[in-house]
Amino acid sequence: MSVEMRGFLKLTVRAVSCIPRRLYSGGRPPAPLGGRILTNPDEIFQHNMWDHVQWTEEETEKARQKAEDNSKEKIPVEEQSKYDTEAHKYWDRFYEMHQRKFFKNRTWLYIEFPELFPPDAAGMCSPEQGPGSEVDSCSESGIREKQQPCGSSTLTSDMDTFPGQHAAFRILEVGCGAGNSVFPIISTIGGSKVFLYCCDFSSRAIELIQEHPDYDPAVCHAFVRDICDTTSPFPFPPESLDIILVVFVLSAIHPARRAQDVVKGLAGLLKPGGIMLFRDYGRYDLSQLRFKKGQCLSENFYTRQDGTCVYFFTKDEVHHLFSNAGLEEIQNLEDRRLQVNRGKKVVMHRVWMQSKYRKPYLIPASV
Ligand SMILES: C[S@@+](CC[C@H](N)C(=O)[O-])C[C@H]1O[C@@H](n2cnc3c(N)ncnc32)[C@H](O)[C@@H]1O
Repeated sequence: MSVEMRGFLKLTVRAVSCIPRRLYSGGRPPAPLGGRILTNPDEIFQHNMWDHVQWTEEETEKARQKAEDNSKEKIPVEEQSKYDTEAHKYWDRFYEMHQRKFFKNRTWLYIEFPELFPPDAAGMCSPEQGPGSEVDSCSESGIREKQQPCGSSTLTSDMDTFPGQHAAFRILEVGCGAGNSVFPIISTIGGSKVFLYCCDFSSRAIELIQEHPDYDPAVCHAFVRDICDTTSPFPFPPESLDIILVVFVLSAIHPARRAQDVVKGLAGLLKPGGIMLFRDYGRYDLSQLRFKKGQCLSENFYTRQDGTCVYFFTKDEVHHLFSNAGLEEIQNLEDRRLQVNRGKKVVMHRVWMQSKYRKPYLIPASV
């Protein structure tokens, strides 16, 4: 191992010493965010990924400088608007080229987001447990809270019928792509009273979902929808959703011009007590630092060679985005990992954001 690598690892290993004790158990993965902690630098190449890696000031500064460097040359303003107005075309081309093969199935979904399938989802809304009845659940803070999972018959809506109207628990995934979360969810909710909606503004992505052999309209409704369009109705009433899954999609949307309105619009679809589950790229992730000069649209917002865009969030930005939409924080974490290429003996820092925000039962008057 090189001297430089040893120094880097010493810093990294020392920096994880403040991880809560329960995360040292060695078992994998105690949610949230895994429990494989690197405590001995000599073991670095024994796994492909190490969890809860904290950065030293030196590492942060180096990353900041790299990002500053690759953002120096911005794409001229007159060329920028096409990445916004034609975004769906770039993503259509992406799915035409990669089909279903680019993203991996989100196998961590139910580990990190157990809210997707509450313990009683299989048998909710029995006649005895009608609308308004409450089910105890345990929040991450350990405080017992009341949830109201049986929402279908409490809906007040102008819609006579809509897909999933008889479901007791409704999930929407926005920016679902070719279904890397959709199909793990479908395989779990069969036979339960959970219904999944999923949308994307790429019609090609939605075709790929609808053509998939596991697509089942009895439990899922996939539709084309631009979530930046905050005026057209959704195929279900407002305040009818228990969960909205927002996974690697807000980063594709202009951070300053659009993201806040998108989150506010989505918040209107949640029932009181409903939860938004978010996972996306974090500031100074490897994929940000790899951008070359000339691909930057604005601070921490870039376009890739294929015309798709990506923003890199901080914890504070995520917090403001969701709390400005009237939602309450349940979780807002930075997921910092060390990704190891064991063949090439290379280590890379990954940073993702993972957050959960709940719509309160009473919305503050100021929102
Ligand atoms: C990085 S991919 C993630 C796909 C999927 N969520 C996953 O995790 O595999 C981003 C997705 O967001 C979709 N997307 C981007 N902007 C959107 C918008 N304004 N409305 C709807 N979908 C959008 C893209 O078409 C693409 O499928």
